[in-house]
Amino acid sequence: MNRQLCLTKDGSFTFYVPELNEHYHSVNGAVEESMHVYVNAGLRPLLEKLTSIDILEVGFGTGLNALLTEAIAPDSIEVFYTAIEAYPLQDEEISMLNYDKIYPAISPEKLSNLHRLPWDDCFHRIRLHFSLKKVKTFLEDYCLGENLYDLVYFDAFAPDVQPELWDKRIFRSIYQSMRKEALFCTYSAKGEVRRRLQEVGFTVERLAGACGKREMLRARK
Ligand SMILES: C[S@@+](CC[C@H](N)C(=O)[O-])C[C@H]1O[C@@H](n2cnc3c(N)ncnc32)[C@H](O)[C@@H]1O
Repeated sequence: MNRQLCLTKDGSFTFYVPELNEHYHSVNGAVEESMHVYVNAGLRPLLEKLTSIDILEVGFGTGLNALLTEAIAPDSIEVFYTAIEAYPLQDEEISMLNYDKIYPAISPEKLSNLHRLPWDDCFHRIRLHFSLKKVKTFLEDYCLGENLYDLVYFDAFAPDVQPELWDKRIFRSIYQSMRKEALFCTYSAKGEVRRRLQEVGFTVERLAGACGKREMLRARK
């Protein structure tokens, strides 16, 4: 996949994919968007209720969501983070990222350690109480299992660009992979996406979106 580095409005970098005319994050702020959609809307409410959290991320990309999650989850909570990615970044792309400038806890060492972990479908402990499993696969081909996750970060490319990842078959298998009361967060607020999520059984809320965007979606099993 051909990717170009792109500076977003909060000073953090993202990538642009010319063949899809898509960015990895909002051009109005990559860190701001990840923090708003995944950490604040998804992770924080669960930190108040659970002592162990299993997270599934669709589209690991730069690793920003995992890095922010690791930075924010306290030591008192055990996190198991499973990340699915079809097109991992190359080493030279990873070295261009500057998240420590906007969020100092994401040091360049943390960023490179995270990316250096093998894509072997096994959990690796990054620090006490935070383990990461990276799976290099197409989501469509991966067996997600049942009743495993408390939180899903659904960060695929937009539904217009990648409709196959936003269809009912995928949402049904994600629903089955989640525990009761688990949360699913995504930056997209498209009506069709919301309806499909409802059709497979989720209760869906529209929340204020990130970086001035009107809405995002949070769904509960
Ligand atoms: C919107 S970007 C999200 C990036 C990421 N969450 C981040 O913070 O950098 C979408 C990601 O989904 C990945 N992807 C695209 N098609 C995929 C597929 N079929 N299965 C799994 N991942 C896919 C892309 O390579 C890209 O990394």
